[in-house]
Amino acid sequence: MKILVTGGAGYIGSHTLVELLRAGHQVVVFDNLSNSSVVALERVAKISVGGITFFKGDLCSPADLHQVFSQHAIDAVIHFAGLKAVGESVEKPLLYYLNNVAGTANLCQTMVEAGVRMLVFSSSATVYGDPRSLPLREDAPTGATNPYGRTKLFIEEMLRDLAGSDAAWRIAILRYFNPIGAHPSGLIGENPRGIPNNLFPFITQVAIGQRPSLSVFGNDYPTVDGTGVRDYIHVVDLARGHVCALERLATYAGVLTINLGTGQGYSVLQMIQAFRHVSGRDIPYQIVARRAGDIASCYADPSLARQELGWQAEYGLEEMCRDGWNWQRHNPKGYVESN
Ligand code: NAD
Ligand code: WQD
Repeated sequence: MKILVTGGAGYIGSHTLVELLRAGHQVVVFDNLSNSSVVALERVAKISVGGITFFKGDLCSPADLHQVFSQHAIDAVIHFAGLKAVGESVEKPLLYYLNNVAGTANLCQTMVEAGVRMLVFSSSATVYGDPRSLPLREDAPTGATNPYGRTKLFIEEMLRDLAGSDAAWRIAILRYFNPIGAHPSGLIGENPRGIPNNLFPFITQVAIGQRPSLSVFGNDYPTVDGTGVRDYIHVVDLARGHVCALERLATYAGVLTINLGTGQGYSVLQMIQAFRHVSGRDIPYQIVARRAGDIASCYADPSLARQELGWQAEYGLEEMCRDGWNWQRHNPKGYVESN
């Protein structure tokens, strides 16, 4: 199939391109490069067979969207493009609603006009808010705690309304848990701009000596050692999940909402320990106050993904640390654009 990958130059998108090309699909990337680099696409090309077509465009521009759909006979869309920084979304909620929610509405409108009705959407475990019980099944109550999370919830509802209006839609809503790590080649990986918001890229930057130490946000949660527990998932496993979802949509009409996680939670201190073991580097840290809005624990019940998609995570924490560290060591400054 010919797949339009919005946000394809980003972290999860670039890894998914590799898996799509491996599965024999053709890819067209639509990205405004607001949080990514074309170097990622050049690197994907190095580890893949098959070409990538890149269209620099913005979801907020219906003209850009029309142009890409008129230039290519798209069969399906995988929609990664969006802003994802929780803190920034609190400061600039309208930016998030315009870019993520309105941008997705523009995309869907263009899909309707182009007669394309197959969509895989990047949602997030953040839609579960503070979980009442664990592990999280897809039918658990939702309730995001910040504007970023609400953009995901609103888009999910918009997509369900769309499917309700026209039975031709086939939509997979994938709720990712905490993606980390990198492609084992070390050629593509996460490339945060500025100070990382997330735990894993912060740890790798401490390990490489770019930051002196890690702040652990609270050790008084009701967890194994008091630090926050999350379901970390290798980005390559996550990427494979998208190919499985596309295959499933070939025979599924309506909306399929699925968790992509491992089902296993690890605490911050367990993550530090695993990373030290794999990298041989010390990770100096200090315990500081809880981060506003954080929850104690979050991990998936991944059984629906197994049943519906025939997918399950294959990599464990050690491989996530190994591949994430391999990427960081070989690309200490991330993607460097030559011009
Ligand atoms: P990323 O920032 O690396 O990738 C997003 C891409 O979208 C970037 O390349 C960016 O340039 C592009 N983009 C943003 N706004 C755009 C617009 N208006 N028009 C065109 N392109 C635009 O992020 P990621 O980690 O790869 O995340 C991909 C998706 O998965 C996002 O929707 C994110 O919310 C979701 N998600 C991410 C995580 C995570 O922890 N990384 C967890 C759950 C869900
Ligand atoms: C993990 C754990 C922190 C940084 C966020 C978004 C969520 C999703 C993924 C997109 C927590 C602790 C972190 C640090 C720390 N994104 N921590 N020191 O908070 O589960 O999820 O990213 O959808 O929406 O909210 O991930 O990596 O930020 O934190 O101690 O410097 O590490 O308190 O327990 P989180 P994270």
